[in-house]
Amino acid sequence: MNRLAPEGTILCALSDLDATGAKGLFVGEGEARRNIFVVRDGDAVFGYVNSCPHIGVPLEFEPDEFISEFGGEILCSTHGARFRIEDGYCVSGPCSGDALEPVAVRVQGDDVVLA
Ligand code: FES
Repeated sequence: MNRLAPEGTILCALSDLDATGAKGLFVGEGEARRNIFVVRDGDAVFGYVNSCPHIGVPLEFEPDEFISEFGGEILCSTHGARFRIEDGYCVSGPCSGDALEPVAVRVQGDDVVLA
């Protein structure tokens, strides 16, 4: 993916992920503006474009609700596709074998930033 914003751009506070384990947000300006989400798995944080590879709709039904009810997987609320948190690979559902588009992020102090 083309760069959305400069490296080091703050996306959210790490503590913003405490409630649901993930957070949806917009980043970039003009035509580069994209809907993304960041998701936490232990000490690691991953970022993805918020667009299901099945039909290209946002994954969440409620704000910041990207994680499956049992945890451990990203869930698309439209038709139930499930994705690995660590690489966005779809392990089940109508787009099985496809993957979410990654956004490089990292933890910097108490924040999640673009890498
Ligand atoms: S839109 Fe995500 S599984 Fe169909």
